[in-house]
Amino acid sequence: MKLTELTLLVVAAIIIISCSNKNSQNTMDAETYNRFLETGSEVSGQAQSALLSHVSGAMKEGGTLYAVEFCNLEASEITDSLNNLYNCTISRVSDKNRNPQNALSTDTEKQLWEYFLSVQETEMIHDTVVMEGNQAVYYKPILTAMQACLQCHGPKEEIDPATYTKIRELYPEDEATGYGLNELRGLWKIEFDRDEETVMNRM
Ligand code: HEC
Repeated sequence: MKLTELTLLVVAAIIIISCSNKNSQNTMDAETYNRFLETGSEVSGQAQSALLSHVSGAMKEGGTLYAVEFCNLEASEITDSLNNLYNCTISRVSDKNRNPQNALSTDTEKQLWEYFLSVQETEMIHDTVVMEGNQAVYYKPILTAMQACLQCHGPKEEIDPATYTKIRELYPEDEATGYGLNELRGLWKIEFDRDEETVMNRM
């Protein structure tokens, strides 16, 4: 599918979603959108730097093999404290996921993924907020922006064999290999309860 066709598809999907829900809670004014966008960006930014320092610290301490178990979000205490502080749920999703829990789960996520893939390497690849029933869900693309990512997500034959064996042991259904530099690896997904709007108004 060409870029323009995909863009049209996404736009059409958004129009259909917003029209069919005109009277429900699935619409959002610009101010609400921006507030969730800002908070999502803050939360994902903090989660990302905490995870990166966690993983790179482990790599320095014990090498790539040792660091494999430090890549799970739940292994990082910051996730819990951010979830509590902002009353949100932080996760990462991907079309080729390593952890089975990180699969793209809704049609909206699949459409969003196709859209981000089609606009990769342009300035159009940016974060967004989607309303899903009672939730506002923030998404932000994650790229393999560092050479270090490829030590665990690069082509299988280029991953250290002991590290790859460990990955397969922990994740027998792993699909998250074969990436080059700066490819779309996943999305940050931050789910907010829409009731939080009132809470966030006070922030
Ligand atoms: C030491 C090995 C290692 C390195 C280095 C590494 N990852 Fe991962 N990555 C993993 C493991 C293991 C998981 C599964 C974590 C889990 O259980 O949720 C994972 C999961 C992910 C996920 C969640 C989706 C999925 O596949 O389950 C994303 C997104 C991701 N990594 C991006 C990156 C990026 C970007 C980098 C570079 C900044 C990177 N990783 C570096 C091992 C690594």
